[in-house]
Amino acid sequence: MKIACIGAGYVGGPTMAMVALKCPEIEVVVVDINEERIKAWNSEKLPIYEPGLFEVVKECRGRNLFFSTDTKKHVGEADIVFVSVNTPTKTHGIGAGRAADLTYWEGAARLIASVSTSSKIVVEKSTVPVKTAEAIGKVLKRNCQDPNVNFEILSNPEFLAEGTAMEDLKHPDRVLIGGADTESGQKAIRTLAEVYAHWIPRERILTANLWSAELAKLTANAFLAQRISSVNAISALCEATGADVSQVAHAIGTDSRIGPKFLNASVGFGGSCFQKDILNLCYVCESVGLKEVADYWLQVVSMNDYQKQRFVERVIGAMFNTVSGKKIAVYGFAFKKDTGDTRETPAIDVCKGLIRDGAKCCIFDPEVKAEQIFRDLSAPKFEWDRPNYSRSQSHMLENVQVQSDPIAAADGAHAICVLTEWDEFKHYDYAALYEKMVKPAFIFDGRNILDHAKLREIGFIVYALGKPLDPFLVKGY
Ligand SMILES: NC(=O)c1ccc[n+]([C@@H]2O[C@H](COP(=O)([O-])OP(=O)(O)OC[C@H]3O[C@@H](n4cnc5c(N)ncnc54)[C@H](O)[C@@H]3O)[C@@H](O)[C@H]2O)c1
Repeated sequence: MKIACIGAGYVGGPTMAMVALKCPEIEVVVVDINEERIKAWNSEKLPIYEPGLFEVVKECRGRNLFFSTDTKKHVGEADIVFVSVNTPTKTHGIGAGRAADLTYWEGAARLIASVSTSSKIVVEKSTVPVKTAEAIGKVLKRNCQDPNVNFEILSNPEFLAEGTAMEDLKHPDRVLIGGADTESGQKAIRTLAEVYAHWIPRERILTANLWSAELAKLTANAFLAQRISSVNAISALCEATGADVSQVAHAIGTDSRIGPKFLNASVGFGGSCFQKDILNLCYVCESVGLKEVADYWLQVVSMNDYQKQRFVERVIGAMFNTVSGKKIAVYGFAFKKDTGDTRETPAIDVCKGLIRDGAKCCIFDPEVKAEQIFRDLSAPKFEWDRPNYSRSQSHMLENVQVQSDPIAAADGAHAICVLTEWDEFKHYDYAALYEKMVKPAFIFDGRNILDHAKLREIGFIVYALGKPLDPFLVKGY
């Protein structure tokens, strides 16, 4: 059997590496139109950082795992074609700011149709709007020259989380395979299930109809993001009342119906998926006339924007309502720890908010490269993007510095903002950092990961989301 995967990104690369590791008799080829990315996959410095990924790639690469730009050859030869291309939010035209842009998906489908001389199972790995399989089926059928070629489309959404992708792929809570309710559809489901059964217990391989599988992925992300926005909403109320969000979260998390995960107050969710998938869900709801349902889910995104804005206002308010000309060290730019991914990271909006008020941000992140940070902070935002201040690009980059050393980043700074929960931030010598900073020295813990009592002992003025406010903190006017 030969598997091809179109799209060598955060999903395609790690997923196929795991398939190759666990199924040594299957040849797996990951193809991409991006030559740089393929070159990096074939080098010692992979294009994405994910704990444990390099070891697996090293073991399988050249054995039964290959990375190539020859899309036509490998897709043409494959029995199963995974499609793991990007499905970003549309930036213009009808549905801009909401709907999924399926340009790359359709391009991949046309490619598959044009090179296929044998029947294939086409697997949706990308997150797509419900009913995409129907549209893709039509593109495949009408563009394939050979009438004997049959395409069976399966939905097999990916639930991995960046930062823990390899663990998630090795021991997934479940694998979901959706297919048509026909004999050939069920046969295709069995074929794909056989691949996963190499390492995943059968009871964790769930099957469903196509539309349920497509919708389950959007729903899973909406529920996960909703939990973050829910606890963040409560964090604002905690600050106003003197309650402590960690204590509230612990108390509710011990209820087995609620559970303890995803209850940490933070500066907000980021990443390429949560916002995009919720907006897409809302667009689908609106398209079928379910405005109230769309409004309900949209509130999850609004609360996330509110939290980022609230954090910026707290920082500025605490520092006597002015950050003009003040150096602020920013610890963490990736949207979460153990990844170099910055797509939709809250750090972009927080830094822009601070810089708009005149601050000079000195950014340190263990994985994110300086070029990426400059690109993110100078990228024009779209009209539909929130919060509004993100649109102002003037004087942005001249007030940004990127440091490869956390001590240098804090040297001469008035404040440290922790925006990513990297473990190493917990273990810095904050007493030594305090000595190098302008007094009063502030720490704004946007991830609630530091030892706040110890920091106060050193002399820091500490603000942490959802915690009782330090009496020193000034409310912004
Ligand atoms: N990143 C995640 O954590 C995650 C998790 C679950 C699901 N998803 C979903 O998986 C999909 C892929 O996400 P990603 O983060 O891997 O995206 P990505 O942008 O990292 O990778 C997509 C790749 O597809 C390539 N591509 C696009 N069109 C192509 C074509 N016609 N032929 C060949 N290559 C093509 C691009 O060059 C790019 O390298 C998205 O739909 C996303 O929503 C992502």
